Amino acid sequence: MLSVALPKGRIAEQTLEIFSKIFGSEFKFEDRKLIMTKGEFKFLMVRNQDIPTYITEGAADIGVVGLDVLEEHRCDVLRLLDLGLGRCKVCIGIKENQRLDYSKPELKIATKMPNITKNYFDQKGIAVKIIKLYGSIELAPLVGLSDAIVDIVETGTTMRQNGLKVAEEIMTSSAHLIANKNSFITKRDEILSLYHQINSIIQN
Ligand code: PRP
Repeated sequence: MLSVALPKGRIAEQTLEIFSKIFGSEFKFEDRKLIMTKGEFKFLMVRNQDIPTYITEGAADIGVVGLDVLEEHRCDVLRLLDLGLGRCKVCIGIKENQRLDYSKPELKIATKMPNITKNYFDQKGIAVKIIKLYGSIELAPLVGLSDAIVDIVETGTTMRQNGLKVAEEIMTSSAHLIANKNSFITKRDEILSLYHQINSIIQN
């Protein structure tokens, strides 16, 4: 049995499209069910940010997750394939009429990605106070909670509609197929077979 963790959220729909091309149009999670079994495969519906945990702990053998989530988690998994979907950027955003003022003794940055943020500013040698939020990040600079944000930009609409602009780009992201390292040894043939099927779909 191969256990596959599939993400909820922004990359869910495109990921399910790929898998329905392999497993048929009936490839759908029933209502609120979180597990779907198809022959030798068990599919788990997992929150995007939790996928690295399921894979590292071996609760799932393989999974699909955004590179941004993977970088934030810094987990020890195998990156098998860039699926090229759910492309977005992790950016620093500030108010339209402002610039990032590095002369401040400490910049306040709101984000749901503290590790990526800290790493980026550490490399620049800039002191930051990170304010960890769980969503609606764009709100923070508008109400004085932070000087800037680090967040995902896909279409740019959320920043634009809230009077923010991109000050700097930190990284680009897209969905990746990842595997538990031990599973890749014990279930190598099953994983590689699925890998090849997914790869041929994304190449076409
Ligand atoms: C993400 C991200 C931005 C928005 C960017 O939020 O945090 O707010 O999408 O997309 P855009 O550039 O296409 O506007 P998400 O929808 O995941 O919700 P959140 O508020 O929970 O972070």
